[in-house]
Amino acid sequence: MADRILICGGCGFIGANFALSVAQAQPTAQITILDSLTYAGSLANLGQLIDSPRLKFVQGDIGDSELVDRTLSRGFDVVVNFAAETHVDRSLFDTAVFVRSNVWGVEVLLSSCRKYSIPFLQISTDEVYGPTPEGEAFDESAPMNPSSPYAASKAAADLLVLAAMRSLGQQAAIVRATNNFGPRQFPEKLIPFFLHRINSGQPLPLYGDGLQRRCWLYVEDFCAALLRLIADFPGGEVINIGADSDPTNLEVVTLLRELTGSTAAMTHVSDRPAHDRRYRIDSAKYVARYGAIVQRDLRDGLAATIDWYRKNSWSFDRLRGEQTAEFLRRHYDQRGA
Ligand code: DAU
Repeated sequence: MADRILICGGCGFIGANFALSVAQAQPTAQITILDSLTYAGSLANLGQLIDSPRLKFVQGDIGDSELVDRTLSRGFDVVVNFAAETHVDRSLFDTAVFVRSNVWGVEVLLSSCRKYSIPFLQISTDEVYGPTPEGEAFDESAPMNPSSPYAASKAAADLLVLAAMRSLGQQAAIVRATNNFGPRQFPEKLIPFFLHRINSGQPLPLYGDGLQRRCWLYVEDFCAALLRLIADFPGGEVINIGADSDPTNLEVVTLLRELTGSTAAMTHVSDRPAHDRRYRIDSAKYVARYGAIVQRDLRDGLAATIDWYRKNSWSFDRLRGEQTAEFLRRHYDQRGA
């Protein structure tokens, strides 16, 4: 059991949900969060946990080697890295910030974990494999074939971790995750963005034909799967954590409209360049070692997500931040949304 845990990016979507899961599942855990509070992170994502004596919050960047060294010198049982720039569409406008956070930041964490002999868990993505052909599912041996600058930056980080494990014997592991959904996601991503558009009576801009498929895992289920993995740390391994449900985007949006009782129009706008048609990963390795991945049904998970955003409308207010508003204008205006 990892009782002293450092969560990098613990104020973002999956990181904050993970911090809350740790706090609940491990009453003796001491949690430290390192987060630079970019546009996508918020202390409010932590709710009352932020006031707990069990939580220590450090504001800063994983690319800041002095700060990372000072933080890790306190000693941890494990460092889990969720900190990343994650939005594919943004990576089409500004690639440098993705390389800085997702590649350089991981290099800094890796070296510091080596120095202090702390196991390092890198949270990666199924996007590193690129699009999955119909009827197939990629296991961990599939080659990396990223389509977007975002996915390329995550693949580059995976290569750094793999090389450190192989040539330096570093105690580390990589988890490649499927699409997560649920509370606390920054509302630029499909599900919360469309909830925002539904609330504000605007049409719902589906890229292309809307028949792209994603496998959706409710974020609490992903965090539960991670806790089991950390308790029996798979040093030296890459492990996929996927989901069974693989609706088209059109089906997801139809369900969102039904669950919210919305009549908002769906509009087909110009497609994301090199838009990956389908992702599907094979989680057999995880299941053989840790047991089945408990998965909330998509409809129930979406209902819980809608409920959370209803009660936490502050989350949508973040779309008005200057930098985000500017991105949304540039990105959607040119698509005719
Ligand atoms: O697969 C894991 C990945 O899932 C993570 O690594 C990424 O960080 C995360 O952002 C997510 O990537 P996606 O590109 O799948 O997520 P996004 O919510 O941006 O889009 C989901 C699908 O919906 C995708 O096929 C694009 C489509 N979409 C998205 C938006 C924002 C639309 O049709 N319209 C939209 O306005």
